[in-house]
Amino acid sequence: MLELGSGGGNNAFHLKSEFEMTLVDLSADMLAISRQLNPECEHIQADMRTLRLGRIFDAIFVHDAIDYMTSEDDLRQAVDTAYQHCRVGGVAVFVPDDIAENFEPATEHGGHDAPDGRGARYLEWSTDPDPSDTRTRTDFAFLLRTPDGSVTVVHDRHELGLFPRALVAQGADRRRVPGPFRRGSHQRRPTSTRALCRYAGVMEYHHDQPDKLETYGVRLQRPESQLAGPP
Ligand SMILES: C[S@@+](CC[C@H](N)C(=O)[O-])C[C@H]1O[C@@H](n2cnc3c(N)ncnc32)[C@H](O)[C@@H]1O
Repeated sequence: MLELGSGGGNNAFHLKSEFEMTLVDLSADMLAISRQLNPECEHIQADMRTLRLGRIFDAIFVHDAIDYMTSEDDLRQAVDTAYQHCRVGGVAVFVPDDIAENFEPATEHGGHDAPDGRGARYLEWSTDPDPSDTRTRTDFAFLLRTPDGSVTVVHDRHELGLFPRALVAQGADRRRVPGPFRRGSHQRRPTSTRALCRYAGVMEYHHDQPDKLETYGVRLQRPESQLAGPP
């Protein structure tokens, strides 16, 4: 499986028992964290919009990293990358955090303490400053404690893309492939695809909205009728 925008490798940590994973991320720092967590996985530093490995995979997975595509052009390029690396009959799953149809401003907070005295607390605030464009904004305020007890404050702003669900599906339709992913529709697919869908379903379930994946996730299956190989 090829994961685009794999970050610190948290999804990969769970998926690697069922898949041989190739992990791609733009950030060298995130890849370094993921290498520690998943030393047995292949790691590649690249942009999901322009990556061309010249190899194909059974499955492509893009979780919340797809949120960093903030224009339609970015989104189409990322979908194209997934398509270019997907074997005939393979599957790509995109799981954005939000879609235009049901985005709502929200706040969250949380954090953890480590046994060595380090600690982190965060406040997350998501807004849509201009509903007429394709961007939302998430501001994080972090309180970071070091083992000696000193605490620093960090403000981190993320500009994220927000698109109608149909837009990703349109990228798929353009390739003459099926539309929305539906839970329960994968029984006849190969084991690896089933496992991915099951995992994505579990992941969404943890978001406390069991029906979310049906609304949000978009599955792109490269049809058997298209015999063109990878670039
Ligand atoms: C929220 S993190 C992903 C975390 C991941 N889902 C996990 O399980 O750990 C989003 C990641 O997307 C990456 N990213 C953003 N834009 C990207 C791009 N154009 N190409 C590749 N990765 C990108 C960031 O570097 C970041 O590591």
